[in-house]
Amino acid sequence: MIDVGAGGMAIYVPQLYLEHRELAEARGVPPNKYLLGLGNRRMSIIPIWEDSVTMAANAAAQLLEQTGTHPEEIHQLVVSTESGVDHSKPVASFVQGLLGIGSRCRIYEIKHACYGGTAGIVNSIDWIYRNYTTSRKALVITTDIARYGFESAGEPTQGAGAVALLLTVKPRLFSVDTSLNGIFSKDVFDFWRPTGHRVPLVDGKFSIDCYLMALEESVAHFRANLGIHKGKLIESLDYFVYHMPFTQMAHKAHRHLVNLEHPDLSEADREKLCTETFRVKVEPGLLGAREVGNIYTGSVYMGLVSLLETEREKCEGKRVGVFSYGSGCGAEFFLCHLKKGLAGPIQGLRFQEQMARRRKVSVEEYVEIYSKNRREIRYHPRDVLPYKDPFTRFVFTGFRDHKRQYA
Ligand code: CAA
Repeated sequence: MIDVGAGGMAIYVPQLYLEHRELAEARGVPPNKYLLGLGNRRMSIIPIWEDSVTMAANAAAQLLEQTGTHPEEIHQLVVSTESGVDHSKPVASFVQGLLGIGSRCRIYEIKHACYGGTAGIVNSIDWIYRNYTTSRKALVITTDIARYGFESAGEPTQGAGAVALLLTVKPRLFSVDTSLNGIFSKDVFDFWRPTGHRVPLVDGKFSIDCYLMALEESVAHFRANLGIHKGKLIESLDYFVYHMPFTQMAHKAHRHLVNLEHPDLSEADREKLCTETFRVKVEPGLLGAREVGNIYTGSVYMGLVSLLETEREKCEGKRVGVFSYGSGCGAEFFLCHLKKGLAGPIQGLRFQEQMARRRKVSVEEYVEIYSKNRREIRYHPRDVLPYKDPFTRFVFTGFRDHKRQYA
C-alpha cells in the first residue's frame, strides 16, 4: 500500500489586513457585493518588510519546529510562486539560506499560476515513493501576494500568505496516491501577467468558465481512474476543498459538480443536494479564503488548513477531494486521505491565533503601501527589526548592492 504524503502543514499570514466593507465603501460599491456576492470579509495586506521569501521561510520555520525536523533532513526543497523576487535566483535558494537547509538538497522554484504548488507536491510525493526505503523528506512551500489593479474588478480578491508542507513516507497528516489524480490542462488566456507588469491582466468571467471546464475534465479523469460511477462521487468523499480565489467560487464549483453528477435530478432537487452537501462538505474549508483572501498557489492548501482547524478531530480518517486550479491553465483533482490521531498536527497550525495578531489598515494606508515601488526600498534593518513576532521570524530589510537582504 502506497503511504506517502504530508507529515505536517504550516500556514503563514502577513501582519496587516483590510476590511472588505471599508474597501466597498471607498469604491462606491454595495458592501454586500463583496461580503455576499464574492463571500469575502477581510484580505491580508503585505507590509514592505515582508515578501514572498519571508512568508515562505516563516511558514517553513513553523513547520520544521512543529514536526521536530532538522533542516539537514530535507533533501528536496520546492517553492511555488507567481510572486518571484528575481528572474534567475529562486525563492527556494533564499529560503535555504534563511532556514539553514543543507547542501545535499535539490532546490528549485516552480511556476504555473495557482497550480504550481500542486505540481511540486505531486512530483515530491513521486520522488519520495521512488526512494521509499531511504525515507527521504521534501519541503514544498507555496507563497504568493495576490495583487490586482486599484479599482479593478479583481481588487476585492487580493490576499497574501504561504503554506508549507512536509512530505514523507508514512505521513502523520494525510496520504495521496498520485496515480489516481485527475489531470487537465489547456492553453488559454484567462489570467496572465506579462514580464514587467506589476499586476495581472484578467478576463474575469472567462477565467470562471476555464476554472469550471478544468474542474469538469479533471473530475472525469479522476472518476475514471478510481472506477467511481457518475452520480457516486459526492457521496464517496467526505469533504471537498476547491481552489478559492474568493469563497463564492467554491460555491460555483460545487454547484457545477452537483449538476454534472446528477443531470437526472430536477433543478430543485439538485439545488437541495448542493445546499446540504455544501454546508457539510465544503463550508468547513472556507475560513482562510474569507479572512485572508486569495493566496494564489497556497489557496487550496489554505482550504485544507481551514478544514483541519474547523473540523479538528472530527475529520480524522476522512477522504477529501482536492481541486487545484491554475490559470493558463492547469488543474488536478486528487484524493487526500486524512490519517487518524490528528490532534498534534492540528494543534500546531495556530491559524486563528495568527489571524488574530494582524493589524487593520485603512483603505488609504493600503493604497499607500501598494503604491510603493519595492525595488527602491532602501536598506533599513534597524527600522523593521521591531516588526518581528513569534510568527514573523524573518523580515525583508531592503537592498544592498542589488542583493535582497533579510534578517
Ligand atoms: N449584493 C449581493 N450580491 C451582489 C451584489 C449585491 N449588492 N452585487 C453583485 N453581487 C453578486 C453578483 O451577482 C455576482 O454573483 P454571481 O457570480 O453568483 O452572479 C458576484 O456578486 C460578483 O459580481 P460580478 O460578477 O458583477 O463581479 P465583477 O464582474 O465585478 O467581478 C470577478 C467578479 C470577475 C470574479 C472579479 O473579481 C475578478 O476578475 N477576479 C479575478 C479573477 C478570478 O478570481 N477568477 C476566478 C477563476 S480563475 C482562478 O481561480 C485563478 C486565480 O486564482 C486568479
